[in-house]
Amino acid sequence: MAETSKIATLVGSLRRGSLNRMAARAIERLAPPSLRFEEIGIGDLPAYNQDREEDPPGAWTEFRDRVRGADAVLFVTPEYNRSVPGLLKNAIDVGSRPYGRSVWSRKPAAVVSVSPGGIGGFGANHHLRQSLVFLDMPVLQQPEAYIGNAAAIFDEAGAVKSEETEKFLRAFAEAFAAWVAIFRS
Ligand SMILES: Cc1cc2nc3c(=O)[nH]c(=O)nc-3n(C[C@H](O)[C@H](O)[C@H](O)COP(=O)(O)O)c2cc1C
Repeated sequence: MAETSKIATLVGSLRRGSLNRMAARAIERLAPPSLRFEEIGIGDLPAYNQDREEDPPGAWTEFRDRVRGADAVLFVTPEYNRSVPGLLKNAIDVGSRPYGRSVWSRKPAAVVSVSPGGIGGFGANHHLRQSLVFLDMPVLQQPEAYIGNAAAIFDEAGAVKSEETEKFLRAFAEAFAAWVAIFRS
C-alpha cells in the first residue's frame, strides 16, 4: 500500500461559497486514500514586512510550521485581474522568508485554477507557477487544471454536478498522488 502523504491545501479565496474551495473539497474527496489533506488558512496572515522578522507575528510562524510539516502542497486559486489574488501571493511571500529558510523549497505541488469565466483562471495559474519555479517547487505538469464555467459545475452544497468534471478531478488527484509518491521514494 502507498505511504500516506500529508497535503497542505491552500485556497486563494476567503469568500463564503467560494467555488475554489468547493473544487478543493471535491479533489480531496476524489483523491486516493494515500493523500491526507489539511487546509491551511491564509486569511489571517499579516501583510509581509521584512522589518517584522525580528519578532515575527505568531500567525506567520504557525503558517510556516504547518507548511513545513506537509509533504506536498495543493494550490487552488481564483484569478484576480488576470493574476494571483494578493491574499495567496502574501502567503507565498511569508513562507519564502527569512531568506534561506523558505518552507516551499523542494516540496512537490499542484496548481488548480477555478473561475466562473471561460478561460478557467489561466493567468493566475501561470503567474503562480512562475513563483513556484523560483521557489524550487516541483509542480505537477499534466494534467493542467483550468476549471472554467465553475458556477455551473458545482451545486450549492459543493457537489460536482458535471460527471465529466468529476472524472477529470479524480484523474487529476490520481496524477497528483503519483507525483507526490515520486518525491517520497
Ligand atoms: C478583484 C477581482 C478580480 C477578478 N478578476 C478576474 C479575472 O481576472 N479573471 C476571472 O476569470 N475572474 C475574475 N474575477 C471573478 C472571480 O473569478 C470570481 O469572483 C470567482 O468566483 C472567485 O473565486 P471564488 O468563487 O473561489 O471566490 C475577479 C474577482 C474579483 C473580486
